[in-house]
Amino acid sequence: MPKSLVLGIESSCDETSVAVVENHSRVLANEVASQMDLHQRYGGVVPEVASRQHLHDLPILIKETLQKAKVSYDDLTGIAVTDAPGLIGALLVGVSAAKGLAFRLHLPLSVVHHIEAHLYAAQLDAEPVRFPALGLAVSGGHTELYVIEDWGKYRLLAATRDDAAGEAFDKVAKLMGLGYPGGPIIEKMANSVPEEKGMFSLSKMKDKSQDFSFSGLKTAVGIEIRKNPLVTEQDKARLAAKFQRTVIEEISARVRVALAEHHPKSLVMGGGVACNQTLREALRRECAPFQTEFRVPPPHYCSDNAAMIAGLGSYHLSQGRQATLSATASASPSGAQPFLIQ
Ligand code: KG4
Ligand code: ZN
Repeated sequence: MPKSLVLGIESSCDETSVAVVENHSRVLANEVASQMDLHQRYGGVVPEVASRQHLHDLPILIKETLQKAKVSYDDLTGIAVTDAPGLIGALLVGVSAAKGLAFRLHLPLSVVHHIEAHLYAAQLDAEPVRFPALGLAVSGGHTELYVIEDWGKYRLLAATRDDAAGEAFDKVAKLMGLGYPGGPIIEKMANSVPEEKGMFSLSKMKDKSQDFSFSGLKTAVGIEIRKNPLVTEQDKARLAAKFQRTVIEEISARVRVALAEHHPKSLVMGGGVACNQTLREALRRECAPFQTEFRVPPPHYCSDNAAMIAGLGSYHLSQGRQATLSATASASPSGAQPFLIQ
């Protein structure tokens, strides 16, 4: 018998996902219903459309995930759900379903912060992360660097002052007339041209903080397109590569400073942008001189998924951090409520 078997639900944005995770890290099933096709024609996620689709997909997905994991409701020991941050209507669908399950099955409930879960994903189907670690969250809504003393104990070192890294990929793709989401398309285009060295200017904070900024870069790309209109596929690919190189250097430069200052045992990266192979290689190279272990999950655990929610929720429950049935959701990164310990 496993010590814990937690069902996790993720519905913070445009992916409905349900997973079952054993003993905080072994993923028995992780099902994802993507709404990408639905939102693609609008060039971005439409919140109300997302909420309605979650409502439609979630009950089906819960059933399918349990079947795939070969477990029944009676085998479960806990329920975990993303409560923040994200689209409020979308989050509420997941939180309501999780509370319903916890109530009906008399199971403890864990509410999980989405960004914390992106970092925890490094531990799914893998060895425990060694602490102290640096945590780099790079997603569509977040670009943050943390010192992690242990799961649940974080100190923020740097955050973005404007756009998140993934948002920059998406907005630049739109400027270039490419599709949505921009990250994978830009990466593919960038890889289609030989490597060069040119970059746009990197951001610099007047107050010497290590915060990230990507909106100036987006403006620079816009100006470049106006000056030199994109005629051929080659023009697009070269601009995509120059943009991607700048984003990667913007991130690598901050990580370099933090590695030198904190000498962590590991660097953990998570979030959709962590799928980017060139970024993964760049950060692996940054870690080498410091003997810091680079930990990044496989791409299917980098983008939004419920395995990271079930895994982290399971860990929190083992530490006695349990939410009550009055738990709610919050769009804000500061979260819905502090953990309520029974
Ligand atoms: O973590 P995620 O799935 O959702 C959020 O929580 O935001 O991240 C989605 C973001 C999108 O902005 C997408 O363009 C970006 O991750 N992304 C990538 C790549 N794959 C996804 N960015 C760069 N390179 C990629 N290969
Ligand atoms: Zn995410």
